[in-house]
Amino acid sequence: MSEFDKIQINRNNKKIAELDILKGSLGPDVIDIRNLQKQTGFFTYDPSYGATSSCESSITFIDGDKGILLYRGYPIEQLAEESTFLEIAYLLLKGELPNKQQFEMFSHNIINHTMVHEQILNFYQGFRRNAHPMAILCGATGAMSAFYEDSADINDPNQRMISTNRLIAKIPTLAAMAYKYSVGQPFNYPDNELSYSENFLKMCFAVPTEKYNSQKVLSDAIEKIFILHADHEQNASTSTVRLAGSSGANPFACISAGIASLWGPAHGGANEAVLKMLNEIQDERNISKYLKKARDKNDPFRLFGFGHRVYKNYDPRAKVMQKTCHEVLDLLGIKNNPLLSLAMKLEKIALEDEYFIKRKLYPNVDFYSGIILQAIGFPTSMFTVLFAVARTVGWVAQWNEMIEDPNQRIGRPRQLYTGPNKRNYVKLNKRG
Ligand code: CMC
Repeated sequence: MSEFDKIQINRNNKKIAELDILKGSLGPDVIDIRNLQKQTGFFTYDPSYGATSSCESSITFIDGDKGILLYRGYPIEQLAEESTFLEIAYLLLKGELPNKQQFEMFSHNIINHTMVHEQILNFYQGFRRNAHPMAILCGATGAMSAFYEDSADINDPNQRMISTNRLIAKIPTLAAMAYKYSVGQPFNYPDNELSYSENFLKMCFAVPTEKYNSQKVLSDAIEKIFILHADHEQNASTSTVRLAGSSGANPFACISAGIASLWGPAHGGANEAVLKMLNEIQDERNISKYLKKARDKNDPFRLFGFGHRVYKNYDPRAKVMQKTCHEVLDLLGIKNNPLLSLAMKLEKIALEDEYFIKRKLYPNVDFYSGIILQAIGFPTSMFTVLFAVARTVGWVAQWNEMIEDPNQRIGRPRQLYTGPNKRNYVKLNKRG
């Protein structure tokens, strides 16, 4: 990041501060307000951080107006079409695509560390069978901090790398176990002969009584879904991971915090909410009724899978997802999927609706992913879990970047206090 220019702040025509303008490699310049309070006595007010860059990062870039998403400079469309999830993981973590030897070594490290401590299996038994798999994943990932304490020194790059590899390698195992537990089937151990996505599907869907056959169509679709969800710069869950990690907390606990943040329906939980919404709308004839609800400020209903804080254009991930959705359904021989037809009709009508046009609300990544996941055989409650498996890569890449940043200090936002002034305590028997 290079110093670019200065901006002056005046109050009543008198200069009170001069701040640096910093220029990134892409995207808008930013005003460096670190000295604002020292120079003026003011803090800034930006609830929900709509205008605040919380960090410097070279991992992911989004141009929300043009609908562009780049991982380390590479367009998401190219990566989804041509790359693999583990190659993306390497790219996000290390900044460059690996050569053959680097890729083999990295894949070996991940694929051979997929098993979790046997004691974690017992830990699962404490959950109710009907627990949401995101609740289980959040708990189990946090619990890993108690199982892998041997490499918890976050200031040692080697120990950070071990934790990073462990998280990427073991999160699919924990996620599949959450699913198996909820359906009352025995856990499957990972199979290190398989690719990342094939292994995940096998751990989810194999049963001891039947021979399991890998289906390439399905693992390819999962691979694409994982790539599309791998990172998305400073979203709520990533910022949560960074904030938790800024105190020097254990990496497994930080990722568990990210999973908690991802769970909400405004974030990763939207893919589950989209499917519930489509099932509720049921029929094309009901679309106008639901769009009316979405437009009504007094109705909490929102059109899930639509809108984004950063994208004010078509989310590039949604385009790939829509195409993948058609491919998967075709390859599975599912003709005329009613949910897909309904989703496409809903998308078309919403995109022509004045309310959505005015607010630049377009389909986001979650609009079509649920339909693919349902066709593969996942229950809706697992949708966000798959998002978490993929996003773990982005979270650990961002967590590592934060720790390596020389400007890194514990995150500590300020506030605009609106409570009572100082007042004296009144004993209970004196209060009216
Ligand atoms: N349905 C109806 N109205 C909407 C929607 C929607 N899905 N999204 C935004 N709006 C309206 C909002 O009410 C506001 O209207 P007004 O200006 O009249 O007050 C305007 O559009 C701007 O929205 P906002 O609330 O300021 O946008 P935000 O940046 O705070 O929220 C969002 C972004 C993604 C939380 C929101 O668009 C939303 O709730 N969408 C549905 C949930 C969803 O699909 N989430 C997945 C996001 S992509 C995956 C991920 O990154 O996790």
